[in-house]
Amino acid sequence: MSTPTPWRICALDDLEATGAKEFEYGNPRQYWGFVIRAGDGVRAYVNACPHVGLPLNLSGDHFFDTDGKLLLCQMHGALFRPDDGFCVSGPCEGEGLKRLNVEVRDGAVWLCP
Ligand code: FES
Repeated sequence: MSTPTPWRICALDDLEATGAKEFEYGNPRQYWGFVIRAGDGVRAYVNACPHVGLPLNLSGDHFFDTDGKLLLCQMHGALFRPDDGFCVSGPCEGEGLKRLNVEVRDGAVWLCP
């Protein structure tokens, strides 16, 4: 996979509605990730659950549980900590999401190598 670097994912404001934004990356674009607000910053992960590789969201930019505190696999109910992607409950408990390196600059979120 090759991705032009750094690569603009979205405006920071795009995270306001749901706290998350799904994006496609790679060259050609063939991988899916998502970026979230986490504390004062942002985190990004590959959008694939560690146990069978399905995306966490079923549609749109909905990645958080109803409390807005944990990330949720909408298919099986697994819960992940936003800060580090660690699964605290569900079929992949003890495993973790694969983190992507991002930074915030000029009001936007950028995917970095
Ligand atoms: S795909 Fe792993 S918990 Fe849903």
